[in-house]
Amino acid sequence: MSTEKRSSFTGKIGFVLAAAGSAVGLGNIWRFPYLAAKYGGGIFLLVYIILALTFGFTLMTAEIALGRKTGQSAIGAFKKLNKKFSFVGILASLVPIIILPYYSVIGGWVTKFLWVFSSGNMEAATNADYFGNFIGSVWEPIGWFALFLGLTALIVFFGVEKGVEKVSKFMMPILVVLTLFIAIYSMFLPGAIDGVKHYIIPDFSEVTLSSLAKTILGAMGQMFYSMSLAMGIMITYGSYMKKDVHIEKSVHQIEWFDTGIAFLAGLMVVPASYALNNGQVDKGPGLMFSTLPRVFSQMKGGAVVGALFFLLVLFAALTSSISLMETVVSIIKDKFGGNRKLICSIVMVGSFALGLPSALGFSAWSHVTILGKDILTFIDDTTNQFIMPIVALFTCILIGFCLKPKVIIEEVEQTGTFKMKGFFSFFIRYVAPVFSILILASSVLIEF
Ligand code: PHE
Repeated sequence: MSTEKRSSFTGKIGFVLAAAGSAVGLGNIWRFPYLAAKYGGGIFLLVYIILALTFGFTLMTAEIALGRKTGQSAIGAFKKLNKKFSFVGILASLVPIIILPYYSVIGGWVTKFLWVFSSGNMEAATNADYFGNFIGSVWEPIGWFALFLGLTALIVFFGVEKGVEKVSKFMMPILVVLTLFIAIYSMFLPGAIDGVKHYIIPDFSEVTLSSLAKTILGAMGQMFYSMSLAMGIMITYGSYMKKDVHIEKSVHQIEWFDTGIAFLAGLMVVPASYALNNGQVDKGPGLMFSTLPRVFSQMKGGAVVGALFFLLVLFAALTSSISLMETVVSIIKDKFGGNRKLICSIVMVGSFALGLPSALGFSAWSHVTILGKDILTFIDDTTNQFIMPIVALFTCILIGFCLKPKVIIEEVEQTGTFKMKGFFSFFIRYVAPVFSILILASSVLIEF
């Protein structure tokens, strides 16, 4: 552990905002809509909301409480609580190391689109092949990826995260309002209303056991990703949290905020894609990038709205990538010691190297597929559908059976009552572990 004193979040709202800043990012705006399109619209939405409010709630409460109780980040926290569970902390710490590189590849796409819109080239981007051509070219996406990663590193290097967080405090609300506005606009595009129905109303007539399993699997992975769970991040955040903040209330605020933004993002692109492609929705990672330029081009002042939108998304992405890099830097520093700035530079170079295959997977290496997926999607799915469920499983076993839920409940109750404690205890002991095992088993069955 570093010997520096752990700083803590100021004020009650400080914690919620910081955690929300980490949680709300490309996962909500880029990832959620295309998964909803891929996994059956309304059904996915329903499954996701149920999971976020039960499983997500339980795990987030547990992680934050663990962090606050131990005052340490994942590796230290698990070791302190039970030596046999040390490997869980290590596994959890692997996740941000894996995510940061490809997260920055997508961050690069956002930066590119911000550039396109602010340099007055919106019309070019409305071409149906524009996005595909862009990610299909070798050097351009790598350049934007390097730029986004460099920006993240620069902020962490100079320790000006607080500045970015301050800016995003007012950017976030604007993003919400703008997303709402774009969503409403999209819903009224000719033909979009059927897309809205597809997105919101679950259609059980086409559900089969295997499609439902895939939907649940996708929703579960998305829940971990979007709420920044099972990767040690919330444990670290909890370790910075003051004792007078009510954990349960904060978790409710974060989960609703996070889910709300994802819902709106889906409403913004799914119906629009439906309307613009004659009832066909783009179901891949390019959904947002291929749909939105065409929506903006139909809008009065769309170029300005588009530029503003991508600027806000860039901020949301940066607050997340900063929290990822921050975590990676502190894992390395806690383990090996050393100079923060040096580690930060190493993490930047290392992440660039690790991210290259993801970027190239759409261009020079597009012939490389693993289990039928492009490299980025493969890495993305592996962390969300294998590593995170394993971390979640052992976190639940540790709390449910070794430490007992009482430990978490007592931590939460340092500030008032824990209203859902009965639910929490039951869920973390009996439902969450069984569910995690089922998820893992079906991941194996579906993928192999
Ligand atoms: N939760 C973030 C998002 O939805 C992604 C993220 C994952 C951020 C892990 C930090 C850590 O975009």
